[in-house]
Parts: sequence; structure tokens; C-alpha cells
Amino acid sequence: MSALREFLTENRDRHLDELKDWLRIPSVSTDPEHAADCRAAAEWAARRLERAGCTRVEVFPTGGHPLVYGEWLGAPGKPTVLVYGHYDVQPADPLELWTTPPFEPDVRDGKVFARGAADDKGQVIIHVDALEAHLRATGTCPVNVKFLIEGEEESGSANLEPFITSHKDLLACDAVAVSDTNMFAKGVPSICHGLRGLSYLQIDVVGTKSDLHSGSFGGAVINPAFALAQILAQLKDLDGRILVPGFYDKVRKLTPKERKAFATLPHDDRKYRKELGAPELFGEKGFTTLERLWARPTLEVNGVWGGYTGAGAKTVIPSEAHAKISMRLVPNQSADEIAKKVAAYVRKIAPKAVKVTVQNLHGGSAWLAETDHPALVAAGNAVERAFGRKPVFTREGGSIPVIATFSRELGVPCVLLGVGLPDDNLHAPNEKMDLDNFFRGIEAAAYLLEEFGGAGAVAPTPGRGAARSAKKPSKKASKAASKKAPKKSPKKAPKAGTTRGRKATKRGAKARA
Ligand code: BES
Ligand code: MN
Ligand code: MN
Repeated sequence: MSALREFLTENRDRHLDELKDWLRIPSVSTDPEHAADCRAAAEWAARRLERAGCTRVEVFPTGGHPLVYGEWLGAPGKPTVLVYGHYDVQPADPLELWTTPPFEPDVRDGKVFARGAADDKGQVIIHVDALEAHLRATGTCPVNVKFLIEGEEESGSANLEPFITSHKDLLACDAVAVSDTNMFAKGVPSICHGLRGLSYLQIDVVGTKSDLHSGSFGGAVINPAFALAQILAQLKDLDGRILVPGFYDKVRKLTPKERKAFATLPHDDRKYRKELGAPELFGEKGFTTLERLWARPTLEVNGVWGGYTGAGAKTVIPSEAHAKISMRLVPNQSADEIAKKVAAYVRKIAPKAVKVTVQNLHGGSAWLAETDHPALVAAGNAVERAFGRKPVFTREGGSIPVIATFSRELGVPCVLLGVGLPDDNLHAPNEKMDLDNFFRGIEAAAYLLEEFGGAGAVAPTPGRGAARSAKKPSKKASKAASKKAPKKSPKKAPKAGTTRGRKATKRGAKARA
């Protein structure tokens, strides 16, 4: 057995105990009451990075929750991998539906149950464990490693993009690795090469200056809750097609090759429907379930409120009503453009008898990578070595908006090596992480560093490792350079801000759109 594997085997209990320690900190980013817990979770991560062997660790304050940065740059001349993840978690409610309390990690049936077990603490820590394993087992690591662990992913990452654009030198790297997605199924290791984007809006409908007696005033004024219902009802037709003018204009069409690839995956609509407890599946006509989930945009109502919802009856015309809606986006749709189109349509169809405002809460772009990019091939090898089976390529209907930002701002390939499972109950009661996936995930993350260190997986940019000061050409210059690159010279020296070769350039352009 290699020294690396031996180290991982000997440290399994400690790895699990440390994860449980981190999971005990209720770092709910959306709730101001948990701000101190978010700080504690950030500090915990910083101390863990130090123990793992990072030679520089910093907790950066932001306008919101802090960002944790760590680095080990002891492999000069080798590529640099930036690992991104998040220490914040979703709120745990409804608490009564948890079998054991969300912040008291409980191990049963080979799984650890706690909020954040899979999303994302249990997936971030595998990369920290992997770096440490290399350093402790062999005294070195095949590549340079940087970590960026944020605390606002679950609440819109408002402070992350400004940090990335203002710390490009600090974050300079040759590839980004993220574990924050699912495998296709238990025993089916996967590399995720696409994410949907997101546009999140709130609609506020106001009628009168206060609630009114529905008998005294019913008939004289409009009911804002009803007006809101009428607005929402006009967003989609009965077949699930979105009615906002121009909504589908830029949607990237599925290619026959993609449709075929989706169809070969072991998905069964009947089984899926049963697992969800749904009377029927529903979605846009003309597309399969996986196509609708991964490559078609959607519009959902996330919450509606207004008027009296307590026990019994109250005869009232509410003065206002509200809805939160979100659109999942696919490549070539722009979150800002979609937000504007939906807002304009909502204002246009709104009855004149109410005041309607539409707030843009947050958004982010979709992301799609070519499956034959050398970085994804390297990730596939790492997963195969750890899980003993070739991974399938999947996409994800969910969003990690920063991935498109990394592609655009850092100009490097991103690999999504997720070890979550579709039934891990992300954002729901009884979130869990399968322990077999956890331990294999650490192994896969360790092999990923080896694979990235091998020739040709990702191109080391001179000066990015030990000496970080290397000057990069401006984004504009490198964009122009990548356009001019002669088509048949994939061996040309890599340009900073672009990935190698023609394929990679094409891919970068796609992600940017
Ligand atoms: N880890 C998830 C993304 C994800 C979702 C991966 C489902 C695999 C399956 C991430 O933490 C998340 O929840 N993202 C949010 C994005 C948002 C709040 C901007 C999402 O998709 O709703
Ligand atoms: Mn996540
Ligand atoms: Mn999440």
C-alpha cells in the first residue's frame, strides 16, 4: 500500500471526528443571529488549514461573513490548484423533522447526519485532508494548493465576486477544484460539467395604505393577493412554458450528442417519481426529465405571502402581498437580462389598481465545460482510482454562481468533483453524508492533486507557484491573444488568463457568455 493510502486508512477516525467538530458550529449565513457562529466556523477552517500544513492562512473580513484563505506553495514549477468551498449552511428548520438535532452530528447506518454534512463542510474538508495526507505521508505535494472557503454561498455570495476581482494575484492558479455537487447515484461516481445559473426576484404588490374590512370595502378596491395570483398565473402556461417575452431567446440548444449522452444515464422516471412521492412528473413539453433539469431554464415560485394565514377566519382585504420567484438559467442566458425581462413583464401585466415593485435579490450565470478538457480527464482519473469505476459525466440543476466567475475572472478550467448523493437532503431535514463517499472522496481529492501534477493535465503558469508576483497580461489582452491563437497549435505556450489549446479557449468563451 502506498504511504498516502496508508496515512488515509490510519486517519479515518480522526477525519470523521474533525468533520463532526466543524458540523457542530451552526454557521447559518442568512440569519444575522448566527454571525458569530459563521465567524467561529471560519476560524475553525483557518486552524484546520494550518494544521494541514498550509504555510499562509488568513481570515479576510468582508462586508458580510469572513472569507478563509490558505496556501501551500512548496512545489515550484508545478501547477497551482485553487480549491473553493463554503463553510456556511442553510437554516435547519423545520427542526421537528430531524431525527437527531441538526448541529449534533450523529453517525448511523454508515452516514453522518447534520446540517452541512454534504453541503458543504463534508465536501470542503476532503480537500484539506487530502493536502495534509500528501504532506504528512510524503513530505511534499505534487502541486501547489490554495483554498478559498467562503461563508455566504447559501445567501447569494454578495462579497465573493468583489474579493475575487480585487485579489486576482492572490488567487492566481491553473485550475479550480470544487466539491459541492452530487454523484449521479450511490456507486455511480460522477464528474459534473455543467451548472444552471440563477436569477432571484421578489415581487411586492401594494393596494391600500392598510388592511381593510372585506365587507365594508370589498368591491371598491382591488385585492393585492388576488392581483399577485393573477400576475404569477401569467408567468407560465399550463404546459410549463414560460410566457415572459424573450425568455428563451438566448437559450443554448441541446445538441443531438448531448441528448444521447443524457439518455444513456441510468435514470428511471417511474422510480424517480416514486422517490419524490409525486403523483406525476411535470415540466416543459418535448424534453426528458434530465434535459429539463440540466439544460432547460425554469421559473419557480419559492414563496407567497400576504393577508391572514392564522387559525380560523378573518374577513380582510390585505394591503399588500408578496412573492419570491427564481429562474434557473442555462448557458448563454444572462441573469441581469432575464431579471430585467421578467420585471418588465410583471410590471406590464400588473393591474393598474396596484403598485408593483420587483426587487432583484441576486443572480449568477450558468456554466458548462467540455468533457474532454484535460483537467476534467484528470479529475475523472482521480475519481476512477478512488471509486474503482469510471465516472459518468453529469450536470446539475442547482447553481454555484462563482464557478462562472472563476472561469471568467481567472480564465482557468474548473473541475467539480462532488461526492454528495441525490438523497443527501441538501437544504432539508436530516441532511447527511455517506461515510463511504466521504472516505473515498478524501482519496479522490488526494489523487486529483497527483493527476493535476502529471504532465499535460493543467499547464503550470511560470511564477504562479512559489513566486506569486509574475505579471499577467490584462484580461482584454489575453482575450485578444486567445482569439488570435492559430487554430492548430495546441502546444503553444499557455497564455495567462486562458486555458490551453483550441478546445479550452472555446470552452472559456462559452462560460463567459
Ligand atoms: N451545493 C449547492 C449547489 C447544488 C445544489 C449542488 C443541488 C448539487 C445539488 C449550493 O450550496 C446551493 O445550494 N446553491 C444555491 C445557489 C444560491 C443560493 C445562489 C442553489 O442552487 O439554490
Ligand atoms: Mn453548496
Ligand atoms: Mn446549498
